[in-house]
Amino acid sequence: MTLDDIETSIRGILEGLAAGLPTLATDIEVQSLVASVTGKKGELTALIRGLKELPPELRPEAGALLNRAKDRVASMAGARLEELRRAAIERSVKEDLVDVTLPGIPANTGKLHPLRSTLDEIVDIFTCFGFDIAEGPEIETDWHNFEALGFPPDHPARQMQATFFIRSEAKLVLRTHTSPVQIRRFLASPPPIKIIAPGVVYRHDDDPSHSPMFMQVEGLLVDDHTTFADLKGTLELFLQEMFGRNVPIRFRPSFFPFTEPSGEVDIACPACGREGRKACPVCHGSGWTEILGCGQVDPVVFQNVGLDPEEVQGYAFGLGIDRIAMFKYGIDSIQHFYRNDPRFISQF
Ligand code: PHE
Repeated sequence: MTLDDIETSIRGILEGLAAGLPTLATDIEVQSLVASVTGKKGELTALIRGLKELPPELRPEAGALLNRAKDRVASMAGARLEELRRAAIERSVKEDLVDVTLPGIPANTGKLHPLRSTLDEIVDIFTCFGFDIAEGPEIETDWHNFEALGFPPDHPARQMQATFFIRSEAKLVLRTHTSPVQIRRFLASPPPIKIIAPGVVYRHDDDPSHSPMFMQVEGLLVDDHTTFADLKGTLELFLQEMFGRNVPIRFRPSFFPFTEPSGEVDIACPACGREGRKACPVCHGSGWTEILGCGQVDPVVFQNVGLDPEEVQGYAFGLGIDRIAMFKYGIDSIQHFYRNDPRFISQF
């Protein structure tokens, strides 16, 4: 055998294939013709086997020729199979075997959970305001969750937090709010600090407006001179971005052990629009509904993390993502969020 012989044989094989393929009408016929070339007993396979009989110096070139031939066979066969596939589709359309006017089968695409899209929106707004994102653990020490934030062990405000205790001797709790992230951030590095901290929190409450697990976003801004006016301006701007320029907002005095002065912010009841219907399940007739807690960071918190309250000043706020999402989408029970029913999620 010489290289010329091999080339001649390859040409013969490819010409045979080029003549044969167009006459074949089924995939099986195509496959068996291909097998007669590159299958176990195929003509081309025999040539490849014969390589070892060639003088060593001819083998590389002969091998390359045969490999190229093999690729060519595969692409010729592939092209014929594609032609057959198209012809079959055209035929079935022409003969009305397929009704192309029938609606298709929709792909089952997923949706973002409404809590996730609400959180994304909140995070987008605050990152535009220049806040960084911080995180903390959901299992917290009593010290981070309470003590450092100005709740001594028997402080009555602890009762409002309906705590899940994990191990009382180790003083571990499921965090009842995202405020312990303030403490963790203070301890990480000194002010200036400008963060939001989104996350899941836990309290043993369970009714249409309370779930034992819910989501908050904490905000904290501390430097040498940040006033309540800055807090008010930031929150007003945030709520306008979230609920529209004309949303009625009011600040009310309140109490938190870790802010002084403290406030709560209400927006006009999204369910009954500030008319305050007595039977309204959201505002119970007041026309307003609470959306967040806030205030100037209490000096006791600065002391607890080793900062001098004479030198730093700032504000903090905490908002409930679930409540915001409920108002935004008109959802009547917080529990829908955590039932994992795709029929619920697919509506948003
Ligand atoms: N952590 C408070 C709560 O969960 C909210 C809050 C955060 C209030 C920050 C003031 C400042 O109720």
